[in-house]
Amino acid sequence: MDWDTTISDRLVLRSLRGVVDHLADELLTAAAGGTARVEVVRRRPDRVEIELEGPLAVLRGLHLYSECAVDLGELDPDGDVTAGGVAERLGESLTRGALSALDGAPQLRFRVGDLDDARWAVRDQLVATWGWHNAPRSWQVNLDLVEGRLLATLGDLHLTRRQGPLERLPASTTPVLAAALVRLAKIPDGATVLDPFCGAGTTLVLAHAISRPGRLLGSDLVLGSLRRARTNASHRRAPLLLVRADAARQPWADASADRVITNLPFGKRVGSHGVNRTLYPAFLRELDRVLAGDGLAVLLTEDKRLLVESVQRTRGLRIVRDLTVGTGGAHPTAYVVVRSRGQARRRAR
Ligand SMILES: C[S@@+](CC[C@H](N)C(=O)[O-])C[C@H]1O[C@@H](n2cnc3c(N)ncnc32)[C@H](O)[C@@H]1O
Repeated sequence: MDWDTTISDRLVLRSLRGVVDHLADELLTAAAGGTARVEVVRRRPDRVEIELEGPLAVLRGLHLYSECAVDLGELDPDGDVTAGGVAERLGESLTRGALSALDGAPQLRFRVGDLDDARWAVRDQLVATWGWHNAPRSWQVNLDLVEGRLLATLGDLHLTRRQGPLERLPASTTPVLAAALVRLAKIPDGATVLDPFCGAGTTLVLAHAISRPGRLLGSDLVLGSLRRARTNASHRRAPLLLVRADAARQPWADASADRVITNLPFGKRVGSHGVNRTLYPAFLRELDRVLAGDGLAVLLTEDKRLLVESVQRTRGLRIVRDLTVGTGGAHPTAYVVVRSRGQARRRAR
């Protein structure tokens, strides 16, 4: 696709619950530094609707959305895409909108996703009237219905296509969530960033992509996870220092981490509440030891009460902010933790 084509279109960017305000900021910051005009028209719980005038390149390097779709308007129950508002929007997008920037436009390869009873009508009309090709295995555009509106998702703008794939574990943090955690951490240039439950290394790889850290340190108990982290680090050219270690007995020096960003074990996939009752307090004692005087930690968990109570029992740490996100049916909270007053000064000396 041609990222530099100037377009004018109404687009929907899919993100996560709790993250849309950060996505809106990321969008407006990216637009401020270039030639594109972006207006955030509407914020929904898990997506942002925008009007974009300018090159699609402004959306290329963003981290806080997973998919981008052209909003084709309300689809009538018969699934008619040959007349009315949907046909008009399709025509506009194919002439001067995002669809016009796709290779081969206006004849595009498509598949139909979740369209209820309208799927056959939409499929047949796209082929007969618009000259598109039904290509479920090599599609450029996926059509589905969201709250009655027909959305044309652009394969080229999918996160994996824009940034490359990442090796994942069943409990891996999604890249959009990892990016949101990294933003919460506000990493200063040159900072040492640590993830002591690093798994496949997603948070560290995103910290490398979004900010300019100094050292990126990761540890995990499981060797297989560290292998995946190594693969991700090499694919993304992120210089991670990875070590096998228990987060309750970390190999890092006192006050050596400026930022700790981590997705703790919680839920059914990793660990259990019983294990966490010992692990969380022990990990927080280590966090208190390795966090620099003016350091900051972002800790994600769904075992929330245990985390909050464990921080309260750790004299040197306090929670200053939290953000609850929706991801794959779970609603974990990211807690921003800093040193308790007095402790920061004592360590900084
Ligand atoms: C929620 S996952 C982290 C996912 C990671 N952010 C990723 O994207 O792959 C939690 C990780 O904690 C690790 N873990 C569990 N108990 C641990 C412990 N005591 N010390 C260090 N790592 C541990 C697990 O092996 C798992 O990789």
